[in-house]
Amino acid sequence: MDKILIIHGPNLNLLGQRETDIYGAATLEEINKKLNCIAKDKKVELSIFQSNHEGEIVDIIGQSKKNDIKAILINPAAYTHTSVAIRDAIAAVNIPAVEVHISNIYSRENFRHTSLIAPVAYGQISGFGVESYVLGLNAIVNLIEKIA
Ligand code: DQA
Repeated sequence: MDKILIIHGPNLNLLGQRETDIYGAATLEEINKKLNCIAKDKKVELSIFQSNHEGEIVDIIGQSKKNDIKAILINPAAYTHTSVAIRDAIAAVNIPAVEVHISNIYSRENFRHTSLIAPVAYGQISGFGVESYVLGLNAIVNLIEKIA
């Protein structure tokens, strides 16, 4: 089975209690459950990782070739707007990455309008709530089939 790495960045462990007017009521556990259901249906395997630490995210991306990861679904959260290191890690492994955001980052504060990740991502999905993850995972499965 093809393996997909799912990365949730900082503060996403607080989903369900964090600014629910922006991010909704679903918890990270509920989102992961939904993604695992889709994965089962699509016959792919997920490796799911959440961290509040930039270096840990860089490390897990760096190990993805060795771990036979076919594609990466990442919500880099606040690191979207600041992390050259995560951007460089994605570029370094040369594995297709899809960037997702729950909120529409372009309709929010100016500092969220820039994604350092987008130029090295295969594509970006932003603003569909939890559905962004579902769209992202489906896009990745199609992508893997296309490049297989
Ligand atoms: C986010 C948007 C980011 O700007 C923010 O820092 C997050 C979550 C989203 O999913 O909408 O933590 O990535």
